[in-house]
Amino acid sequence: MCGIVGYVGHRQALDVVLGGLHRLEYRGYDSAGVAVLDGAGALRVQRKAGRLANLEAQLDADGRQSFAGTAGMGHTRWATHGPPVDRNSHPHRDAAETVAVVHNGIIENFAELRAELEADGVELTSDTDTETAAHLIARVYATGDTAGDLEASVRTVCRRLEGAFTLVVTHADVPDKVVAARRSSPLVVGVGEGEHFVASDVAAFIEHTREAVELGQDQVVVITREGYEVTDFMGEPAQGKPFTVDWDLSAAEKGGHEYFMLKEIEEQPDALANTLRGHFHNGRITLDEQRLADQDLRDIDKVFVVACGSAYHSGLVAKYAIEHWCRLPVEVELASEFRYRDPVLDRDTLVVAVSQSGETMDTLEAVRHAREQKARVLAVCNTNGAQIPRESDAVLYTHAGPEIGVASTKAFLAQIAANYLVGLALAQARGTKYPDEVAREFADLASTPAAVQKTLATAAQVRALGREIADSKAVLFLGRHVGYPVALEGALKLKELAYMHAEGFAAGELKHGPIALIEQDLPVVVVMPSPKGRAVLHSKLVSNISEIQARGARTIVIAEEGDDAVRPYADSLIEIPATSTLLQPLVATVPLQILAAEIARSRGYDIDKPRNLAKSVTVE
Ligand code: F6R
Repeated sequence: MCGIVGYVGHRQALDVVLGGLHRLEYRGYDSAGVAVLDGAGALRVQRKAGRLANLEAQLDADGRQSFAGTAGMGHTRWATHGPPVDRNSHPHRDAAETVAVVHNGIIENFAELRAELEADGVELTSDTDTETAAHLIARVYATGDTAGDLEASVRTVCRRLEGAFTLVVTHADVPDKVVAARRSSPLVVGVGEGEHFVASDVAAFIEHTREAVELGQDQVVVITREGYEVTDFMGEPAQGKPFTVDWDLSAAEKGGHEYFMLKEIEEQPDALANTLRGHFHNGRITLDEQRLADQDLRDIDKVFVVACGSAYHSGLVAKYAIEHWCRLPVEVELASEFRYRDPVLDRDTLVVAVSQSGETMDTLEAVRHAREQKARVLAVCNTNGAQIPRESDAVLYTHAGPEIGVASTKAFLAQIAANYLVGLALAQARGTKYPDEVAREFADLASTPAAVQKTLATAAQVRALGREIADSKAVLFLGRHVGYPVALEGALKLKELAYMHAEGFAAGELKHGPIALIEQDLPVVVVMPSPKGRAVLHSKLVSNISEIQARGARTIVIAEEGDDAVRPYADSLIEIPATSTLLQPLVATVPLQILAAEIARSRGYDIDKPRNLAKSVTVE
């Protein structure tokens, strides 16, 4: 939620900051703003409600030359406090307009801080929590021991703030530095030649440098042209964690595609191959980080998977594999519900936290709750060094590359593959599978990039179908066994991208109520199990389809190539390659992603930036 970027160097800050905001817009797009220090004591600010394009048009109208300067910062917002209007857009300033602040997260004690400022006669001009930080920093900077010391002022104010926040702060009196601070929200430093960056995500500066430093909890960094310096909130010297970004600019660009999401759907074979790569070595499955003894894994007697949205669906898929391979009970829980229902956790519980961003607050809080109860936590994450992996006992990274389209596609497939690796690692540690069985399962997984590549060939047929049903009122999705979470994922994609009513059901439940929804021409997408692998379920689903077809539904069937038994019941048949039962979600999801994207496109929506959403949800 909210993208922030700061820069000090030898280039025009406005260009660098706007370039960064373009790459961070996936984090929020309710408004955007910039601040540039002109080096002569003036702080130039512009901010506009709506997409970044609105801000750019305003800057053009203002004359971009009036924003000349080599230090500055910018923000793209996902609104939390106050509607997305100009006055609530960041940067926020103090009354004298010398301090500017951009912020990601929520300052939880802002009502109290606001009351204190108002009692002091400060007039607040926005509804945001962020503005309080600007006034407080200006006040601390003007007085006492911290007078004239921007970083000390930021530290003093951070110590008073509660909640999760990343702040980037500039002051008109200090034109050669930008100060940033973080608590439970992401912040990375980019280290260039004679230039430094701070941002929510490396994508903001990948065009300029791949050398980055990840900041720890409760740290403040000052960047200048020459270098960067990290301290904790008390002012003690601290260390960030340097790393080199292992992907380049092309991964963060559309590469000729109309939308990032379409590119990311096509990247799925690579995302799977990269996620599996290096995890089976000398006959053993390995994780990326393991701060747990093998004995701890052997002692596990229960698994929880906690996650949100698509990541949660990947957990639902994983349950079938982990229970089957490890003979361990697995519960899959929405992270936002987990800690509020007093789950039974102890040292022998493994909590698998699945998160593309690694910063989803619901999942992070579930992780913290699990750790407080002494459970072991294993993170499956796509973002190197994000907060969730940092707070976990073991980590398996999905190497899907940056996912910029707000709706998850390649990260979802990579999460399923990574969850399966977790299942195999557990089976191996616990001895519920022989080494040759683990090797066979891994080899089977390694065949999925090719199967997904083949499935992508259905795109033209699926897109044509999408255009045909784009005006439908609603679409239902049915599946059984691992096809059930696939149905849920298909429905979620359609809701978020096309703003259409869509529901996923376990097909066997249909007769217990949802069949009442079936009416003439209602599109119903059915994910068929393999006729060979799951013959009993297959025949039951054929009966379910004939029941809904008899009631007038338009049946769209995703079935394995050569599944002739279902053909008579399919008004449209989309054929996917045959896979083993547990791997079918990796191929069956692909047409559903394409379908949702095409329906949204036909309806004229921006499929990379669906309304009301943001890529990384750092509020509870
Ligand atoms: C749906 C989608 C979301 C995310 C969810 C969790 O397309 O993208 O449902 O899956 O917000 O996000 P992460 O995986 O970053 O924790």
